[in-house]
Amino acid sequence: MSAPTNHSLRRPEPSLLDDVPTAKKVAINLRRNKKQDHTQLLDEAAGAFEYAACKDEYWNPEKFSLCYGTPIWDQASESQRVLLNQLYWVAYYAQIISAEIATIYFNQTSAAGLFGIEDFRTVCDMLDLESSQERAHIAAFKKVSEAVEAEVFGQRVFTYPMRGPFHETMIYQDSSPFRRKFKRLQLRTFGLLSAGNAFIACQYFLVRGIRTLSGKIVQHQLSQYYTKYDREPDPVTGETKRKEDAPIPSKISYYHFCDESYHFNSSTIVSHDVVKSLPAPSAFEKFVTNLGVKGCQKDHRNFSSMVNGVFWFDPAAFAAVYKVLRSRAFGLDDKAARELIWDSFCKDNESFHLAQETHQTARESYKKYVAGLDFVSAENKKMAVMEKASVDAALRRNRRMYGRGLAPIRTWAPA
Ligand SMILES: [Fe+2]
Ligand SMILES: [Fe+2]
Repeated sequence: MSAPTNHSLRRPEPSLLDDVPTAKKVAINLRRNKKQDHTQLLDEAAGAFEYAACKDEYWNPEKFSLCYGTPIWDQASESQRVLLNQLYWVAYYAQIISAEIATIYFNQTSAAGLFGIEDFRTVCDMLDLESSQERAHIAAFKKVSEAVEAEVFGQRVFTYPMRGPFHETMIYQDSSPFRRKFKRLQLRTFGLLSAGNAFIACQYFLVRGIRTLSGKIVQHQLSQYYTKYDREPDPVTGETKRKEDAPIPSKISYYHFCDESYHFNSSTIVSHDVVKSLPAPSAFEKFVTNLGVKGCQKDHRNFSSMVNGVFWFDPAAFAAVYKVLRSRAFGLDDKAARELIWDSFCKDNESFHLAQETHQTARESYKKYVAGLDFVSAENKKMAVMEKASVDAALRRNRRMYGRGLAPIRTWAPA
């Protein structure tokens, strides 16, 4: 903890030091995160990554493959399935990069908002460490994903050049130029508000905690590919597998998951416990907090049958899948690629039900997360916006948006 304020000089407001269990939790979480910090291991793994060394194997459990459960998957050859499994990794972490770019910015604005309160130094130190870890995560994801896309497609498909925090966090979203501009304005405004208001800064971590919860659900399973790697013999040679030979992207998934567990702890400690050391929120502070949670619900209102576990508006990513199907690895012509996209995303198949299951698990966990917080509105407590998602609605939407989703390929040329 930071040096306590001299008692005679203390302001009348409650202090974090009056809440000894919470102050302890913050200090322990920071100490343990420092001790387990995977930054160096991630940097080494990313530095050693060569696509050629792991291009013939899975990087995730099989069900975490791009388009798993769709006709694209069903018709794919074994080598195409390996690629779809790797492309899941690329697409999934392209989404995580976007979320983490925003996280770095709001960690910093929120730390500014909280540092204006006596005795909050440890909370801010914890956030500083997390921001530097996020930078290492982003660097590792970028290194692998860009190498894969350069080799397989010769151009970007799911990746994008490095960018700032004011973009739509959901990389494939039901958006328009106006909505994008408005989102930018909202993000900038939230940054300004959180930097100057301790309650809003504190409750940014409620939003971050909710977002991390859905990440945890998927990333725990992705990390298992590495943790269980040496438990079963190689299916071809029958030899015992060694952890050190696991594909580097699976190691990155595991290292990332380890760091993120601490980030989730700190989101919970700050949003649920540290908040008790702040004065009760004003109507405005409650309003902004609920707007943040509702914004998160809106961002998570769709489920993606393309990348199970992210909440993309899939039609916006049809053009990306089209590029995959037209690539050397799949070799489809224009007509066949369009038809397979229709069959995979506009007709009912297993992928929709798997994605819906993940979405429901996420929604239930969000509901539990906010249940005990009296400043959260009834609508947000029910996660009412997310409740509207269904397989039928997703199918209707995909059929309606099919043409518009594929419109960007008019100006696209194979590399
Ligand atoms: Fe991260
Ligand atoms: Fe994180």
